[in-house]
Amino acid sequence: FLVDKGNHRHFMEKEIYEQPEVISHALSHYVDLGAHTIKQTGHDIDFAKLRGLAISACGTAYLAGLIGKYWFERYARLPVEIDVASEFRYREMPLSTDQAAFFISQSGETADTLASLRYCKEAGLKIGAIVNVRESTIAREADAMFPILAGPEIGVASTKAFTCQLAVLASLAIEAGKARGHIDAAQEKTMVRHLAELPRIMSAVANLIQPQIENLSRELSKFKDVLYLGRGTSFPLALEGALKLKEISYIHAEGYAAGELKHGPIALIDENMPVIVIAPHDRFFEKTVSNMQEVAARGGRIIFITDENGAAASKLETMATIILPNVDEILSPMVFSLPIQLLAYHTAVFMGTDVDQPRNLAKSVTVE
Ligand code: G6P
Repeated sequence: FLVDKGNHRHFMEKEIYEQPEVISHALSHYVDLGAHTIKQTGHDIDFAKLRGLAISACGTAYLAGLIGKYWFERYARLPVEIDVASEFRYREMPLSTDQAAFFISQSGETADTLASLRYCKEAGLKIGAIVNVRESTIAREADAMFPILAGPEIGVASTKAFTCQLAVLASLAIEAGKARGHIDAAQEKTMVRHLAELPRIMSAVANLIQPQIENLSRELSKFKDVLYLGRGTSFPLALEGALKLKEISYIHAEGYAAGELKHGPIALIDENMPVIVIAPHDRFFEKTVSNMQEVAARGGRIIFITDENGAAASKLETMATIILPNVDEILSPMVFSLPIQLLAYHTAVFMGTDVDQPRNLAKSVTVE
């Protein structure tokens, strides 16, 4: 069917603003938004019996999986092996049938992800697929298919598929935590209640930060290199922020775990490389702030993406501080996706690049 841009200049912009609505669809498939419980979706992955989970994907879907790893390990005490599919398929890692393998793919057709799936199937593992296109090859070949319900994504740079993948992974991590006895009924209710608020929060945040991000993007478009830092689930988000920016604006960007700053990227810090720090006021906050101090001490310019508590707790001078509302930690990867997506989008618009069809990139990579 026909998909148009509506009132938006690009599909990417439309897809960013669509997120509250599609996330709400995704969530209502996996959680009961009235009773605040996880729904039984009828799949046959027995989380209680699993010794481990192997996750494999490419690009942005891989980064969603990396955030999923933090959740499955923390909330369900389920060890997760994760790798980009092009490495996973050749790594000859020991696999056993008490592990399940999950594949994340918007298109469901990515060649390396499909090859990894077949490799795990051959090894006798139960296969779960987190996909947008339900009729895709990856969806068909899986034992359990978990749709992300994002609707068609046209922009080559993934936005709404990423946050819907996260919503599904968060729901599955809670389900696994319940099944494995690490989340009780009261915790389940609290966590699902938080998830239920996500669409409303994302819609408010997108409108709140848009003008500031647009101004900031004008500044950012003058630089040649940008560094993104984060800890915990904000680390994969730093990688995703850098990926988005380089894909569509062609500005060189790198994402690092903030704790790795000292192990290399600090050598590059000067006034010509803005450092985007993603730091909600979570249990890593103080540590990330001390990394920010190291950047500031070397004349680095900081773009600080934080929440209200974080902004109140830091006195550092920044090039810009983007303040989001305080949200529960399970929501922060989705909520903090908005500023990084909008920043990449508006920067690319200022640069005048082909935002929806960036050079050399394809929406779906069906060859190795
Ligand atoms: C390409 C796209 C990315 C996407 C990746 C994986 O690189 O440009 O946006 O994240 O492929 O695609 P998949 O369809 O498997 O999620």
